Amino acid sequence: MKNILVTGGLGFIGSHTVVELHSRGYNPIIVDNLSNSQEDVLGRLKKISGLIIPFVKVDLVDFQSSKEVFENYSIDGIIHFAAYKAVGESVAKPLAYYENNLVSLINLLKLSNEFGVSNFIFSSSCTVYGEPEKLPVDESFPKKQAESPYGNTKQVCEEIIEDYCISNSSFKAISLRYFNPAGAHDSAIIGELPLGVPNNLVPFITQTAAGIREKLNVFGGDYNTHDGTCIRDYIHVVDLARAHIAALEHSKGMPENYDFFNAGTGKGYSVLEVIKSFEKVSGVKLNYEIVDRREGDIEKIFADTTKVNDVLGWTAEKNIDDMMQSAWNWQKSLPK
Ligand code: WQD
Repeated sequence: MKNILVTGGLGFIGSHTVVELHSRGYNPIIVDNLSNSQEDVLGRLKKISGLIIPFVKVDLVDFQSSKEVFENYSIDGIIHFAAYKAVGESVAKPLAYYENNLVSLINLLKLSNEFGVSNFIFSSSCTVYGEPEKLPVDESFPKKQAESPYGNTKQVCEEIIEDYCISNSSFKAISLRYFNPAGAHDSAIIGELPLGVPNNLVPFITQTAAGIREKLNVFGGDYNTHDGTCIRDYIHVVDLARAHIAALEHSKGMPENYDFFNAGTGKGYSVLEVIKSFEKVSGVKLNYEIVDRREGDIEKIFADTTKVNDVLGWTAEKNIDDMMQSAWNWQKSLPK
């Protein structure tokens, strides 16, 4: 299994996974519709990997143009990142989210069937757990009523993949439930490129430190946590990329033909602790203010990583300081 189709491969996690695939001897082929990524990432990937990774601009919602990719490339496996992923936006535009995230998945599964692709790694999210009663959260936890249409698309996509696996025993699929990806490649040549005002904490921190944003609003200081701010399991994007390689390798010989894993570190950090780490590694005093809570935020979540450690043989190696250092190095490499 050499040729791996990476959907959304010019995006944040996709591009870091392309680097890891290439370094492990795979041939990544990128498809991306550029709705939340930039084509110049291809040149950046060439700087890191030394070669032009094959790229096709395609909207996976369009079956015919997606089929042409399978006709032109002999695909052995798929890592599927491409999806809309902004929680707030999904509340405002639910139909766009359901159409894009579900139809693109269904098209990929139909084409996998038609072209005999039998290894599939899916980008899912810890958002399927909602607000867990007990922490750390493990994979046996029941999926909850999603907090947003975005979260619901992840739950439904997991179910579509599982049902398809039941119907096709030769198809091997794994869902990775991401916690909070952060950081950037050590080279600072690729990293997170949020379009417009960042939704997520870490790019907002680095843009504030870089003077692009005036201050960081900390959403809520009255949660039932040790310092009143929300707790999340931040995972370095390079660790997360490596988890996809471990999942791909495991899928070759996995006993069942569908499984799912937490992709986290097992450690929870509060917003104030993340800020403290950033200030320590950057030497920058961050301008922030604690304001009202953000609608839809859960109080705390972090992963039980027993299953992913034991079954995939993968463990996150980088810590919160590595994430903040690499995110800051990446931010400083960008034009203001
Ligand atoms: C983290 C913490 C905020 C911004 C979401 C999705 C998840 C995944 C990652 C796509 C929270 C606080 C944030 C800010 C803040 N999405 N915060 N000020 O909401 O945990 O996860 O993004 O892959 O599926 O649910 O991530 O980075 O937005 O927030 O105080 O300006 O930082 O309240 O406590 P979140 P986040």
